[in-house]
Amino acid sequence: MKKLKIECNINVFESLDELPKNIQKLMHHAQEARLKAHAPYSNFLVGAALELSNGEIISGNNQENAAYPSGLCAERTAIFYAHSKFPKEKILRMAITAGSKNKKETTPIPPCGGCRQALVEYEQLQDNSIELYFMGTDGRIAHSSSVENILPWIFDKSVL
Ligand code: THU
Repeated sequence: MKKLKIECNINVFESLDELPKNIQKLMHHAQEARLKAHAPYSNFLVGAALELSNGEIISGNNQENAAYPSGLCAERTAIFYAHSKFPKEKILRMAITAGSKNKKETTPIPPCGGCRQALVEYEQLQDNSIELYFMGTDGRIAHSSSVENILPWIFDKSVL
């Protein structure tokens, strides 16, 4: 028997003020998008904004549906649109903010497993890391230098 240990490294910042201006701006786009989420069933609002290599910022939010599984998370809404509109551009980084409606959330909320899987596909495709910055609604921000960092031992096309 052999034991494997898988680690991931996360940087935690106490507030947005500790981050460079371009990251603050990206998170502001995510915060704006969050407030426009369509989440009448969960009342859990998520906003995501990503920066492309051509300088474009694309944002998205969660879109729920009465047929629950037909809805989509904010991160996938943003990245699917970004790659459909700008298939040749690289995705440099994504900012994510999440929390229940009308509630302050100071714990960083990480992207769900389904979004990590969707995001990592583009990271591999472009052969460049996508930085992730994620937070609740206020306060601390967590930073991962890549998607793979928070999705080790990936299921990807290499096994197909
Ligand atoms: N949600 C996201 O938008 N992103 C995530 O990474 C996790 C969950 C959404 C899906 C659903 O609309 C609501 O949050 C509650 O799960």
